[in-house]
Amino acid sequence: MKITKTTQSRLKDVDFSNLVFGTQFSDHMLIAEYSDGSWSEPEIKPYGPLSFTPAMHTLHYGQAIFEGQKAYYMENGEIGIFRPEANAKRLNHSASRMFMPEFPVEWFMEGIKALVDLDREWVPKEANHSLYLRPFMFGSSEFVAARPSEKYTLCIITSPVGPYYAGDVKVKIEETFTRSAAGGVGSTKCAGNYGGAFYATDQARKEGYTQVIWTDHANHELIEESGTMNIGFIIDDTFITPPLSERILAGITRESILTLLRDRNIVKVEERPIKVDEVVKAAQEGRLKEAFGMGTAAVISPINVIGYRGTDFKIPTPMDGYAMRIKKELTDLRSGAAEDPYGWMLKF
Ligand code: COI
Repeated sequence: MKITKTTQSRLKDVDFSNLVFGTQFSDHMLIAEYSDGSWSEPEIKPYGPLSFTPAMHTLHYGQAIFEGQKAYYMENGEIGIFRPEANAKRLNHSASRMFMPEFPVEWFMEGIKALVDLDREWVPKEANHSLYLRPFMFGSSEFVAARPSEKYTLCIITSPVGPYYAGDVKVKIEETFTRSAAGGVGSTKCAGNYGGAFYATDQARKEGYTQVIWTDHANHELIEESGTMNIGFIIDDTFITPPLSERILAGITRESILTLLRDRNIVKVEERPIKVDEVVKAAQEGRLKEAFGMGTAAVISPINVIGYRGTDFKIPTPMDGYAMRIKKELTDLRSGAAEDPYGWMLKF
């Protein structure tokens, strides 16, 4: 792999105690180009602007996908990337649904490791901090005919980050707007799934909420996701989360949490459709013990209020509850304070 190092590191300009999520980028990036049916070998070079023409395909038709993953500073001084192969595979799931070329998993793994290794000084050492890794791919042909792009660019940039949400999260059960529909692209990380959500989120913000809980497109009866995260509830003594479908993103944090909950017998787990009515009734009866979002950026984000048709239900966020316990299990595994029996960390 060709590596061109920067001659002017920006590392000394970064205040690691005051990071705003996704606003600062490390010294290097990885780039690969696809044309004539194959990918060029990835190359690492100094982070900087890309040049494109006004007719670049993705600006018009949005064949654009991304991933979110993290590298951690571990207790023994090693760097560990959490489950990179799972992200490589999910990127290819998104690529295939968006009619984009898959990127070789070995090149992804080799490239991301080389990139993070080169910028290892950028991985924050503070607790609850990490280097957020943002692989993305877009159609880069120069034409505006409405047909798939023929050229694509894959890029990975990285950003040192602290906690995503400052505090607890107040969410509104959304009954007007929809994130995804049957037969659609809800299970992918295509850019449009996020761009299309901003309006609904802003409406909820104007009503005093942090985020929305997405419900099904047909009747708004089923809980699906929360903001950019998967969602789970502790009702009575059971953890319940909606099953994966073509409308729900297969969250890697979600899957990791389910694995830990099951393997460690932390709580009874049910992956099943969950109705809005069931959550509201449990909240009214005091049986909704906890609710939280699960995602790469926020990891676990406890929800302290759920709004439904003008009523706000207060949800407990106990410091010794399940959300905090699972967060600790994950954090310990990632920092090396606990064993990693699954081999989830790619360490170097
Ligand atoms: C995640 O938490 O997994 C995300 O995708 C968040 C990102 C859109 C900032």
